[in-house]
Amino acid sequence: MPADFVVKKAKGSLVWDTNGNKFIDLTAGIAVTSLGHSNAELNNIVSKQSKSLWHLSNLYINEPSVTLAKKLCNFTFGEKVFFSNSGAEAIEAAIKTARKYSTKKFNSNKNEIVSFTTSFHGRTIMGITLAHSKALNDGFGPLPKGIKSHEYNSIENLEKVISDDTSAIILEVVQWQSGITPANVKFIAEITRLAKKHRALIIIDEVQSGVGRTGSLFAYEQFKIKPDIVCFAKGIANGLPLGGILTTNEVSSAMTPGLHGSTFGGNPIACAVGEKVVDIISKKSFLNAVKKKEKLFLELLKEINNDLNIFSEVKSMGLWLSVTFAKDSNIKVDELIIACHKNGLMILKANMDTVRFSPSLIIEDMLIEKSMQVFKKTLTQILAL
Ligand SMILES: Cc1ncc(COP(=O)(O)O)c(C=O)c1O
Repeated sequence: MPADFVVKKAKGSLVWDTNGNKFIDLTAGIAVTSLGHSNAELNNIVSKQSKSLWHLSNLYINEPSVTLAKKLCNFTFGEKVFFSNSGAEAIEAAIKTARKYSTKKFNSNKNEIVSFTTSFHGRTIMGITLAHSKALNDGFGPLPKGIKSHEYNSIENLEKVISDDTSAIILEVVQWQSGITPANVKFIAEITRLAKKHRALIIIDEVQSGVGRTGSLFAYEQFKIKPDIVCFAKGIANGLPLGGILTTNEVSSAMTPGLHGSTFGGNPIACAVGEKVVDIISKKSFLNAVKKKEKLFLELLKEINNDLNIFSEVKSMGLWLSVTFAKDSNIKVDELIIACHKNGLMILKANMDTVRFSPSLIIEDMLIEKSMQVFKKTLTQILAL
C-alpha cells in the first residue's frame, strides 16, 4: 500500500511531502536512485540529450545505447546487450533467449527453467511463475509450463531437478525476500557443476543487486560463478526506466531480428544517463565507499541492538541491509514503517518480520547517523506503547 503522504520533491537522500515534512530516504525508490534524487550531473545529461535525440524505437540504433552497451560489456562477461524498460521485461528477455538458444542448439525438449524459492523476478506472468509463491501467483493462473522449483541455498536433490531438459537455471546470487541472503558456496558450486553437465544456461537476476548495490558493479563478481545471461534494471539509469540483459555472442546468436523487441527499450535519454551512472559507479573508489558506508550502518545497528535487544538478525551486502526482529519483540513491520514515516524516515519491508534499507549509494555519513537515530527513536516509541 502506498504511504499516506504525497511527495513533492526530493534531493540527494532527502524527500519532502506536500505539507513540507522532510524524510531521510533509505529506500532510494526501491534500490534505484543510487546517485541520489535530482542528481545535478544527471539532470544536465537529461537536459542535453533531450535536445538532441529523445526517442527513436528499436528500428534504429541510437548512439547512447551503443556507448552504454559497450561500457557494460567492457566491465563484464557480456558481449551483447538487449535493452528493455524494466526488470520484469529483462527477465522475460532472458527466459525467451535461453529457451530459443537451447531448443535451437539442442532439441525442442530442452525448454525447462529451474528457479528457486524465496526468489523475486517481477510481476509478469513469467515472473510470478518463477517465484513459486502463492502470495504472488494466487488467482493469476494458468501459469506457463516448464518451470521447476527448488529450495534456495540447498543442494539436496538439486540433481533431480536439473536435467538434460533444463534450458536454464535462474537465480539471484543475493536474495532479498527473506532478508539479504547471499547464495552459499556449495549451492553455487553445485549449480555450476550441474549446468555444465547438462549444458544448461545460468541466468543471474541482478535487477536489484546490480549496478553497485552490493559493493561491486554486479554482485556475481563476488561469487565463483560464470553467468550466461545477466538481467539488470533498477539502478542503471538512476530512476529513468531502463533495464536489459547482458549475454554472450554464442547465446544471443539464437535471437535473430524479429524474435523480440521493445518500442521504448534503449531510450536515448535513459541510456545517456546510464552511461554516466556506469562511469561513476564502476570506479573502485566509489565501490569502496559503498562498503565503508555499509560498515557504518552495521556499527550503528549493533549499537541499537545493544540497547534494545530486539533484532534476531542483521544481514547486509553493500548498501543493501536487512534487519529481522526477534519473534518476542512485538515489532510489526507494517506499523513500524508508518511510525518511521511519522518521524521522517523512509524504509522498506522485506517480509512480515524483516525491514530492508537500500539507500542511495552516496548517502552522506551524517544522514546515515541521523537515520539510525530516528530508527532507534521510533523503535523505542513502539516498545513503550
Ligand atoms: C530481483 C528482482 N528481479 C526482478 C524485479 C522486477 O523489476 P521491475 O519492478 O523493474 O519490473 C525486481 C523488482 O523488485 C527484483 O527485485
